Amino acid sequence: MAELVKLSRQGDIAVITIDNPPVNALSPGIPEGIQEAVKQAARDSAIRAVVLIGAGQTFIAGADIREFGKIVSGARPRLSLLPYLQSIEDSPKPVVAAIHGQAFGGGLETAMSAHYRVITPTAQVGQPEVKLGLIPGAGGTQRLPRLAGVVKALEMCAGGEPVKAQDALMAGVVDRIVGENLLEEAVAFAGSIAAEPFRKTRERNEKLAQANPVIFAVARQQAQAKARQMIAPLRAIDSVEAATKLPFDAGCKREAELFNECLFGDQSKGLIHVFFGERAVSKIPGVGKDTKTYSIKRAAIVGAGTMGGGITMAYANAGIPVIVKETAADALDRGLANIRKNYANTVAKGKLSQAAMNQRLALITPQLTYDGFDQADIIVEAVFENMQVKKQVFTEIDKIAKPDCILASNTSSLDIDEIASATARPEMVIGNHFFSPANVMRLLEVVRGKKTSKEVIATSMALGKRLGKVAVLAENCHGFIGNRMVGPYFREAQFLVEEGASVEQVNQALYDFGMAMGPLAVDDLAGLDVGWAIRKEFARFEKPGVRKPLVADKLCEMGRFGQKTGRGWSQYDEKRKPSPDPETAALIEKTAREAGIERRQISSQEIVDRCIYALVNEGARVLEDGIALRAVDIDITYVFGYGFPAWRGGPMFYADTVGLGTVLARIEAFERQHGADLWAPAPLLKKLAQEKSAFSDFDQQREAGAMAG
Ligand code: 3HC
Ligand code: NAI
Repeated sequence: MAELVKLSRQGDIAVITIDNPPVNALSPGIPEGIQEAVKQAARDSAIRAVVLIGAGQTFIAGADIREFGKIVSGARPRLSLLPYLQSIEDSPKPVVAAIHGQAFGGGLETAMSAHYRVITPTAQVGQPEVKLGLIPGAGGTQRLPRLAGVVKALEMCAGGEPVKAQDALMAGVVDRIVGENLLEEAVAFAGSIAAEPFRKTRERNEKLAQANPVIFAVARQQAQAKARQMIAPLRAIDSVEAATKLPFDAGCKREAELFNECLFGDQSKGLIHVFFGERAVSKIPGVGKDTKTYSIKRAAIVGAGTMGGGITMAYANAGIPVIVKETAADALDRGLANIRKNYANTVAKGKLSQAAMNQRLALITPQLTYDGFDQADIIVEAVFENMQVKKQVFTEIDKIAKPDCILASNTSSLDIDEIASATARPEMVIGNHFFSPANVMRLLEVVRGKKTSKEVIATSMALGKRLGKVAVLAENCHGFIGNRMVGPYFREAQFLVEEGASVEQVNQALYDFGMAMGPLAVDDLAGLDVGWAIRKEFARFEKPGVRKPLVADKLCEMGRFGQKTGRGWSQYDEKRKPSPDPETAALIEKTAREAGIERRQISSQEIVDRCIYALVNEGARVLEDGIALRAVDIDITYVFGYGFPAWRGGPMFYADTVGLGTVLARIEAFERQHGADLWAPAPLLKKLAQEKSAFSDFDQQREAGAMAG
């Protein structure tokens, strides 16, 4: 039997312990080990029942996700877990799964093959496979509806959200909630049921009778609305439906076919890339687990505008007391009113209790002075995007803050080193770039200045996790990773309308590609005035003679700032519903005519290629300039901060799936058409395409280099 699975005895109860740190994934050796242990327990006449438990922090987090890549590439055949789980279910002695931490995916499927399940109060169960673009593939779609009913099984298999112990008990997924002394209580429970007759889950067909076509039709509709363009939720529903129509074995066969369809499709590759990427971005060469971090117990925010308010909420949501300072009473009142309104909306939606809202508000201290800033462990500046204003604020806070207080700027593009130069402690200064709305968006771009200490970086990365964010490290440059790349993306969107595409066509093409919103809709939402101010600030860097978008400035001069003024690229009604704006269309046409731009029919494919390849090309430069550590850091930035579809894996991964040779050829064609200033291919992209390799190869080489170094 493999070392990964241990068999021991507690009196007349056998205990099978899975010990595969960190999360007891069902890696090769584990299913075989469980099967062998169950057999041994069956043979041992002194044993009356069996407990199956996980060592460490969790029961079983699922199949080993790393194996999927090997299977898809043909390096390893697909190991079906079904026969192994069948052997648990076929055990002549009752098996009790003892769940703590998580029983996710294959972990829950293992637990459901046992005859009983006991769970600690804080544990969770779930079938999160759809989040990886997969469906449960080890009988989950067949056993779960038998235990929990079709509706709950659809919710869990197609939605992928975890279910807490109490909910799992109510639904029938588990049989009992026990105390945190899990092993002892599970063994006692096993002893208490050992003499009783027990049933196999596969034979518990009663709850399948509740199925009717309406349930499945509604589930499909919901899945399409919630997970636009995603295939796996629909296949999960198909598979649960199969459970209601086919005998268990045939249902499992159908499940395996649907699982394979998802596994070999592109969406699971993209989502698995994002799963590991989300974890990879926390690894920074030279900033290891042993790097000291500062303890963050109190925070202070300067500015209660759009971002300051959201950042204040992010801290309060994490239970960190936070002071928020404004310059004038009306601005402070407005900021606080927004915070209250946001919380109240969440309460109204039933996603937060009134008591929790009150608790969070109690953590927030609004004020017009710097009182208490000398106690803060971190101060986050979120004032106007203007270097002089920011330097003034940093000069002030540098005088007040205690020596080990981190001074963070939420700037979206300005030079962190110049901001740090306003202080006597540049090693404590860092960029903490949140995304709007800061209490919701998951990305935190952590920007390292030349002198930022590694302890300050490590603290920001860890703090990001505490605030529920995904923190990505960027080096200091204009726009860092995300906004530097978004420049060419927005540029192309605007060029396309000047060349003849409609605003709606550009938005729709990118929405259909999978972006959360079209680029011009994003511009209207963020406020055209924001980009206008930035363009003015950076006008000195513009290269003379290079084409630049012409319409946005004119819209701003007309007072059209997007949603906030009701008109921008589109026009908006009171409910902020957009419709085409004929005056904008006329303005675009007139501007193009005056500039001598030839207007033509433009396909959706060209819109997607120009906008997305502009991102990819700039992304390659960001990578070779060392602004991002890895290509996957760019992907995570775009998926969590810019609404890039996770199932496409992010812009760099998407380029890999298209093939860098194809991407390069298209960029070279754009270069011939629109000039080298705008479209010269990034040298790294050219090199990788010529070598027939990919951005993922680049990441692997960098990682190997970092390890060797
Ligand atoms: N397979 C392989 N590695 C896994 C894994 C899995 N199922 N789950 C987690 N890991 C790895 C992570 O990559 C990470 O590795 P690293 O330290 O090298 O970066 C390490 O385990 C720790 O993971 P987290 O950082 O995520 O730890 P947390 O404590 O924050 O979270 C968790 C733990 C809630 C279990 C979370 O890891 C998780 O949700 N894991 C994925 C669960 C999942 O999707 N299961 C379904 C798998 S597919 C399946 O089971 C198919 C089946 O139906 C046939
Ligand atoms: P905003 O205009 O909504 O808020 C700025 C606030 O700072 C105003 O309320 C102003 O009164 C206040 N302020 C100015 N000087 C101050 C001082 N000395 N002390 C206290 N308060 C002061 O601006 P917004 O959008 O919140 O932007 C703030 C920063 O966040 C900028 O650097 C911006 O680039 C960045 N950012 C903005 C994003 C967005 O989508 N709006 C996204 C990410 C970053």
